[in-house]
Amino acid sequence: MAPLPFPLAAEPDQFARESGRLLFAGPVDFLKGVVAMDGLPPADRVEVCFAGRSNVGKSSLINALTGRKNLARASNTPGRTQEINYFTLGDERYMVDLPGYGFAEAPVAVVKKWQALLKAYLGGRQTLRRAFVLIDARHGVKAVDEEILELLDRSAVTFQAVLTKADKISAKEREAVLAQVRGALSKHPAAYPEIVLTSSEKGEGIETLRALIATMA
Ligand code: GTP
Ligand code: MG
Repeated sequence: MAPLPFPLAAEPDQFARESGRLLFAGPVDFLKGVVAMDGLPPADRVEVCFAGRSNVGKSSLINALTGRKNLARASNTPGRTQEINYFTLGDERYMVDLPGYGFAEAPVAVVKKWQALLKAYLGGRQTLRRAFVLIDARHGVKAVDEEILELLDRSAVTFQAVLTKADKISAKEREAVLAQVRGALSKHPAAYPEIVLTSSEKGEGIETLRALIATMA
């Protein structure tokens, strides 16, 4: 079977762009940090989450989307986000910042606990409409990502690959990492067939992602 093309997400049209702009210019608030499944807020609205390896740029991406520098904590210390952080986006959506996976330098018991929570969440949240799986553009899809992608396949949660830190690579490196990511995604039935290339630093791909989230019914 030929690999699926997995093109880059198209530039949003004017309507989608404006919807995205309005949504993210409106109220966005931190709701709560969740440490156990029974602490999740009511499953009463559309929810999207940001998953990915430690340090890939999940919190930075949420800050870039919302244009608020310190909404989601971002840091140089991998493993900083240790709870499932819920943000309300307008009245009808939640955005969820997840703890990173694949980080070995925290105490084993702590890592085990938050990884178990991450898996329970990704596998069991009914209203999770889409999981954005962040992939560092310098590194591509790694073995630890595969474990999460398989879990999303099994749980039938549609996921979309978002390459981060695009400002750190050359045009030639872009093509190479895109080829690697496309090859990896083609093995996953739950993969949404478009990739988003982003830089939280330079703003690349941010409007596209806003429009995508805004036009999710
Ligand atoms: P954990 O919560 O530990 O899993 O990390 P995270 O995925 O939330 O990563 P975070 O947003 O904290 O970013 C990690 C580091 O990458 C920080 O030093 C950021 O400044 C940096 N970073 C994030 N996005 C970008 C980007 O688009 N470009 C560049 N150059 N650096 C980035
Ligand atoms: Mg984080």
